[in-house]
Amino acid sequence: MASTSLSSAAAPSSPFPDPQGRFLLATCQAGAEEALASRLLSLLPGAGRGAWRRGLVTFRRPPVAAPPDDPSSGSLAGAVFARTLVHCLGQVHGADDAARAAALVALSPAIAATRLHIWHRDHREAAGGDGSAHDTSSAARAALVAALPGIAPGATATGDLVLDVVVDGPERWWVGWHRATTPSSHWPGGIHPQPLPADKVSRAWLKLDEALAGFALTPTPGERAVELGAAPGGASQRLLEAGLDVVGIDPALIDPCVATHPRFTHWRKRARDVRLREFRGFDWIVADMNIDPVSTLEAIGRVVTAPGVRPRGIIATLKLPDWSRAGGVDGWLAAVRGWGYTPRVRQLSTGGREICLVALRSGRRGAARRRRG
Ligand SMILES: C[S@@+](CC[C@H](N)C(=O)[O-])C[C@H]1O[C@@H](n2cnc3c(N)ncnc32)[C@H](O)[C@@H]1O
Repeated sequence: MASTSLSSAAAPSSPFPDPQGRFLLATCQAGAEEALASRLLSLLPGAGRGAWRRGLVTFRRPPVAAPPDDPSSGSLAGAVFARTLVHCLGQVHGADDAARAAALVALSPAIAATRLHIWHRDHREAAGGDGSAHDTSSAARAALVAALPGIAPGATATGDLVLDVVVDGPERWWVGWHRATTPSSHWPGGIHPQPLPADKVSRAWLKLDEALAGFALTPTPGERAVELGAAPGGASQRLLEAGLDVVGIDPALIDPCVATHPRFTHWRKRARDVRLREFRGFDWIVADMNIDPVSTLEAIGRVVTAPGVRPRGIIATLKLPDWSRAGGVDGWLAAVRGWGYTPRVRQLSTGGREICLVALRSGRRGAARRRRG
């Protein structure tokens, strides 16, 4: 194996010998592998499937392509189901962490990465199901830091070169690298680093927290948000904490700690039973209804295309009753563009079998607002 150096990684096609330099490694929610693969292969014509594990897929990228140092930026940002997308160096084996760290150094002897991201391939399984304790690899981390003195502890800054290590069972690590640029590329495994605080009324608080951070959204205190499917109230609680005035629409009950908040109002009915003129004046429309994704989009489209209703942003959870529905993504994005919004979509690490669609109003008014905000 030829010597390699992450320090010369500015041109990602050059520093690594084949085959290591020509593979991408993506990790995803367990079960999303096929959805991820078909999406990524459609974005990267000529790419081929490589290794396939639960929650991890590698791809041989076409020889002509020169992806950015952070493959999760640029065109592959539309990979939707990829939590992480990194340049793959290969896998290392060994009986213990020290042996695997030594094998990693042998694989890439001149590693100059300054930061380390290490996570378990199936972090919810590793954490016992709740997904909260994803950094179960402190012994492996210690072994790597001992073997690689250039690795500094702490969070990544934008532009940092990151060594990625995916712990896969008792003897195998997958190894890769990327440069941290996008918000989620700062998170080990692309997994939102915030656990659910005990005082939050539902897991939807965490999903909204990840959506705000991952899409770099900045709602302004004093803005108004309406949420379709608000009960029991976790997402509304997060919006209230951001300083927004919130109306929650849901026939079900809202948790008292949200319902009694002075900036919260509950309209206890279904979304379609709210008259369109009542949606005027909202800056954000949030939707998290346990219904079909097409029905969710119809409910949002009914609102944002109504006369006098023009929120600046949409944050929507689209539930996927089964993975085959992932094939509908492009059509859904086209519908949102047709309303005059610029959509982005991503599967959040804190959600279930669903995707998060964020769309900001397109055009001059929307762009000026985004620059100010
Ligand atoms: C996943 S829960 C929402 C969680 C919530 N966003 C939170 O933050 O806690 C889905 C909710 O959608 C509501 N729902 C389903 N269909 C709806 C409709 N047509 N209009 C309003 N709410 C609806 C359900 O009553 C249920 O409370």
